[in-house]
Amino acid sequence: MRPEPPLALLAELTHRCPLRCPYCSNPTQLTGAGEELDTATWARVFAEAAALGCLQVHLSGGEPMARRDLPALVRAAQGAGLYTNLITSGVLLDAPRLAELCAAGLDHVQLSVQDAAAAGGDRIGGYAGGHARKLTAAAVIRAAGLPLTLNAVVHRQNLDNLEQLIDLALDLGAGRLEVAHVQYYGWALANRAALLPSRAQLEAATAVVAAARRAHAGRLVIDYVVPDYHAARPKACMGGWGQRFLAVSPAGRILPCHAAESIPGLDYPRVQQTSLHAAWYASPAFARFRGTDWMPSPCRGCERAEIDWGGCRCQAQALLGDAAATDPACDRSPRHGLLADALAEAASAGQDFAYRQFSESNIRSDRIV
Ligand code: SF4
Ligand code: FES
Repeated sequence: MRPEPPLALLAELTHRCPLRCPYCSNPTQLTGAGEELDTATWARVFAEAAALGCLQVHLSGGEPMARRDLPALVRAAQGAGLYTNLITSGVLLDAPRLAELCAAGLDHVQLSVQDAAAAGGDRIGGYAGGHARKLTAAAVIRAAGLPLTLNAVVHRQNLDNLEQLIDLALDLGAGRLEVAHVQYYGWALANRAALLPSRAQLEAATAVVAAARRAHAGRLVIDYVVPDYHAARPKACMGGWGQRFLAVSPAGRILPCHAAESIPGLDYPRVQQTSLHAAWYASPAFARFRGTDWMPSPCRGCERAEIDWGGCRCQAQALLGDAAATDPACDRSPRHGLLADALAEAASAGQDFAYRQFSESNIRSDRIV
């Protein structure tokens, strides 16, 4: 059956970033600046995304503000008819640069914070002074009249500060707060023992969210999903593989999700050679886990097969070495016990991080030959 068109494009403009978050969602092998797509190619990608049916583009990274041509990219996306959302750490965002982006047609900003206060935020992000810069960026965004979403990635080392994070979102004038539990692949899997929250922390946080939703209804929307390691059922990752979203990597790979390159054996098309339309409708990589035909037992025939689509392919790859297996986050998976083992290990683990690095040792070549 012909798939529906995608709703949104995740444009990973760069892997460069001044922060070093230990749960970064970028691949552990990063793309260097010299191999990033140029302005004209991104402009063509945005036009193709709009023609394909996408309604919005998330301008992401790394840190998208590291791209000097960001105003031109926003203008191109806006000109193509896409709603433009900038996903930023905020540390490079000041009033003059935001004015350029507003003039180019930027619609919305999603600002990340690593914790509710500077000491924790700067330690977790691995960037001294970063938290203060974020507060300045939030003020600049609101002064420009742009809608603001605060994105708080939560884990064992900041989850107890959730009330303060909610207060921070209110103080900064955010209309939405995304409380996003860490997803454990890539950098985060390497730091999993230092990041996994306990069941008691999770239950307390869930109660905090419920109370805050009641107290701040009409003023602050709070997005919050119980994390996989404490859930009995997996989430429908990306709304199902190749069903709602597509991503383009800094070097031009067209992907069903931002982490898809962690799955070996799939040949992802590139924007330099293939249109987004051809990738979406004709690429074997997009078809590989789309729908339900690929599913093994116990997903095959399960009443939730078209609800969670078997969970996350990248998590199955990361934990089982098999992207075609049922996500072990499901308690019907024969490997579900792995998650309990990880929680038990984390309960006695320390707090130190292995920070994300952007260095010679983990810059990969992705040149077209
Ligand atoms: Fe979802 Fe598969 Fe678990 Fe059923 S068995 S709930 S489809 S992951
Ligand atoms: Fe890739 Fe879930 S992150 S399918």
